[in-house]
Amino acid sequence: MSLMFLDSFPWYMSPSRDFMLYKRDTLELLPSIPDNSVDLIFADPPYFLSNGGTTCQSGKRVEVHKGEWDKSQGADENHAFNRRWLEECQRILSPDGSIFVSGTHHVIFSIGFAMQQLDMKILNDIAWYKVNPPPNLACRYFTHATETIIWASKNQTSRHFFDYQAMKEENGGKQMQSLWSITPPKKSEKRFGRHPTQKPISLLLRILAAASREGDLVLDPFMGSGTTGVAAAITGRRFIGVELNEEYLDLARQRYEFRDEEQEQKLDKTFKRQKTMAAKTITSEARKPRKRRPSTSDLFSPEE
Ligand SMILES: C[S@@+](CC[C@H](N)C(=O)[O-])C[C@H]1O[C@@H](n2cnc3c(N)ncnc32)[C@H](O)[C@@H]1O
Repeated sequence: MSLMFLDSFPWYMSPSRDFMLYKRDTLELLPSIPDNSVDLIFADPPYFLSNGGTTCQSGKRVEVHKGEWDKSQGADENHAFNRRWLEECQRILSPDGSIFVSGTHHVIFSIGFAMQQLDMKILNDIAWYKVNPPPNLACRYFTHATETIIWASKNQTSRHFFDYQAMKEENGGKQMQSLWSITPPKKSEKRFGRHPTQKPISLLLRILAAASREGDLVLDPFMGSGTTGVAAAITGRRFIGVELNEEYLDLARQRYEFRDEEQEQKLDKTFKRQKTMAAKTITSEARKPRKRRPSTSDLFSPEE
């Protein structure tokens, strides 16, 4: 079956066509994705914090410069940008799908407000505790140790999918809380190079286990080094990633092609439940597959 088509060739496509990377501005690509076609979106948008401030890296004070894409355009323009891509995400989400958006205080209030303006249903605000954050060198603030992840569904009437049981199992038989204690990416996750805001694979494995099923279509509109895509491939989900920077696209391709090493993390003892906090990774067995959906290639332009 053929759906409407994405309007450009992928920069990379896996042989099975279940993993596609697009080198495009997300605001240009998203409009070509059909309505109600994506089951889960993870977005880690620009934080708008690369504006001449400093941070601590390996014990040294360094200027925050994550890239041109991370510069603030001012509060109103930043918010207008967030509203535009969120509006597209809302349109393409399936009725029982959901979206997770990660951010610091520089961006997360705008994200939450845009979701309210669009009448999306906010399901949880998850506090991701970064376990071992860099110290605050200025000594005039608390150490920044958390990031917020807003989980929302398409609208007030949508019935989002949540694998409650899987989360409870992962948390040693107790209800999973909205406080997630997860360590930063490991060396093996950065073996092909580093992205300045790379997310840990264990964070994405948990999100995918909580809110998607095998065979689902997962989208990351600000893909970076491809963490969402690797987690999707490891757990049998289909994936579309959008990214502007070729260097990061190449990182994502390599991580996908050599994903076995990151797959090991599913078994890594680091993610076993700690005494006071939940930090274990997923077990993806016993998911009830959704009714077969068209493959990612159905979304692909037939011009090839
Ligand atoms: C916060 S990072 C995402 C990091 C990612 N979660 C990871 O684990 O590597 C945001 C990414 O979005 C990309 N980006 C920024 N603006 C974009 C746009 N308009 N369209 C597509 N990609 C964009 C940047 O190049 C950057 O790599």
